[in-house]
Amino acid sequence: MENCHFKPDMHVFICVNERCSGDMPSCAPTITREMVKDVKLWVRSKGWTNSIYVTKASCLGFCNPKGGVLCIWPQGRFVKGITSVKDIKKVIMEEVET
Ligand code: FES
Repeated sequence: MENCHFKPDMHVFICVNERCSGDMPSCAPTITREMVKDVKLWVRSKGWTNSIYVTKASCLGFCNPKGGVLCIWPQGRFVKGITSVKDIKKVIMEEVET
């Protein structure tokens, strides 16, 4: 076992959970794995690969019918109602600029 110590400035967890039943809303299919991949490529194109991590996540606990949910850590910011890659980029840019 080996420890890897690396601390990015920001870790973005994006829920792509999709429920089979319609009892509760889920982030997918509004937010897809392909959309997360697009965000990762965008982060790479900005040269932020070592400072911003982007990871697909399962349910983050803020399921809602208006869109997807993401969390930015360690800032502790949860955002719901995400409906596009543009929305995700906007949230990341807000954090980068603060
Ligand atoms: S399904 Fe995405 S936050 Fe619950």
